[in-house]
Amino acid sequence: MAKYSKATLLLLPLLVLLLIKSSHAAGGISIYWGQNGNEGTLAQTCATGRYAYVNIAFLNKFGNGQTPEMNLAGHCNPANGGCTIVSGGIKTAPQCPFPDSNLGTALNTGLFDYVWVQFYNNRPCQYSSGNTTNLLNSWNRWTTSIDAGKIFLGLPAAPSAAGSGYIPPDVLTSQILPVIKKSPKYGGVMLWSKFWDDQNGYSPSIISSV
Ligand SMILES: *[C@@H]1O[C@H](CO)[C@@H](O)[C@H](O)[C@H]1NC(C)=O
Repeated sequence: MAKYSKATLLLLPLLVLLLIKSSHAAGGISIYWGQNGNEGTLAQTCATGRYAYVNIAFLNKFGNGQTPEMNLAGHCNPANGGCTIVSGGIKTAPQCPFPDSNLGTALNTGLFDYVWVQFYNNRPCQYSSGNTTNLLNSWNRWTTSIDAGKIFLGLPAAPSAAGSGYIPPDVLTSQILPVIKKSPKYGGVMLWSKFWDDQNGYSPSIISSV
């Protein structure tokens, strides 16, 4: 009896560790928000529950001691203070893990926990005409040569969202994700953008495989 409980005590922490590890190994969907006024508010974007990260785009002024400034073209104008409505959205959506608090440090040191790579509008590095070779070779180069915590596969969320490089959801889930998820640096899939994701329903069709 005593032997038994000792073994159980040893096993329990091990199980907890495995559970934590597997939840970290799973990827998440990252979404770009900020450039289209018809994509809903930041709070609505977070409330979909589909996105593990929201990238607020774009930070058009940073570095060289400048005060960082965001261009949220579709939503507000930072120049006249119109973006306070967006900061309100950030406050009411605490479930979103926003990238902002460590920004200054990251920009100063050049060290990033997450690297978001655009695998579209770039023919030598993308999926095209049913061929995954260039995309997978490019992914392997990124994950073996960049010193980052996690790397995200950046894709257009709809055919019209980019000039080239759109991957149909069934191709992504059956031929690409099973391969790239083997990398310990796999962080998930990044989509351009919330507007296009709404139009095409891309994230709901891949989320269970990401
Ligand atoms: C896929 O693309 C690669 C690289 O361009 C090429 O070498 C290969 O022959 C292509 N595969 C098919 C089936 O077309």
